Amino acid sequence: MSELAVSILRGEEWAEYLVPLQRHQTVLDLVTWIQRHRDPSLAYRFACRVGMCGSCAMTVNGRPRWTCRTRVEDVAENAHLRLEPLANFPVIKDLTVDMEPFFQQHERAVARFFPGGGDGDFACVSPGSPARQRADAGIECIGCGVCAAACETVAAFPGYLGPAALNRVWTLVNDSRDGAGRARLAAVAGDFGAHGCASHQECSEVCPKHLDLAGAIAALKRTAFRAALTGGR
Ligand code: SF4
Ligand code: FES
Repeated sequence: MSELAVSILRGEEWAEYLVPLQRHQTVLDLVTWIQRHRDPSLAYRFACRVGMCGSCAMTVNGRPRWTCRTRVEDVAENAHLRLEPLANFPVIKDLTVDMEPFFQQHERAVARFFPGGGDGDFACVSPGSPARQRADAGIECIGCGVCAAACETVAAFPGYLGPAALNRVWTLVNDSRDGAGRARLAAVAGDFGAHGCASHQECSEVCPKHLDLAGAIAALKRTAFRAALTGGR
């Protein structure tokens, strides 16, 4: 059986491992093998292993990825893998990062549903309506933080609300049942909100759910700007 050389950044130092290769092995499988067979103190995070919970993201050969759905054979370079914690997040230990700043971005962006919208909380919204389609296009976020790890604005300005929270806001702006309207648009206006986005598109390129984050933020910019001019939603 052939082996793969794996380098893992653990604090300030790289640790080196040789891991037996198996068909269809994921990067998460490989990290789990190292923890079970080489070093039980290796810290990393996962829960569902099927691409639903968003907890397994790491930097793989320099690019942020969800590791439970990333096959080793697709990303190894010259039989080598380099694993680091997600960029732009405080590191707790080894491959585990503190997601608190990410959750705070959602809190500051008012990125949650508020009842009291014009159509009522239990309104039946046609799946074919343009607003519903805009909302549905961005709703599958799993909160993995991969977009934030790739975002140059998050790296440069820690106060920036980040692509995931802004995308969630865009889905809510298009939800006729939601009642936060102007307050939410005010929360995401300005340089630390949608207008801080430099449209570099890295977020959309790395999102494992293929969400058009840059497009959502651009649309949010226009909507927030229009609301500021008109004083309405
Ligand atoms: Fe992950 Fe995509 Fe959600 Fe960002 S928008 S947290 S990359 S699923
Ligand atoms: Fe849940 Fe990877 S472990 S998305």
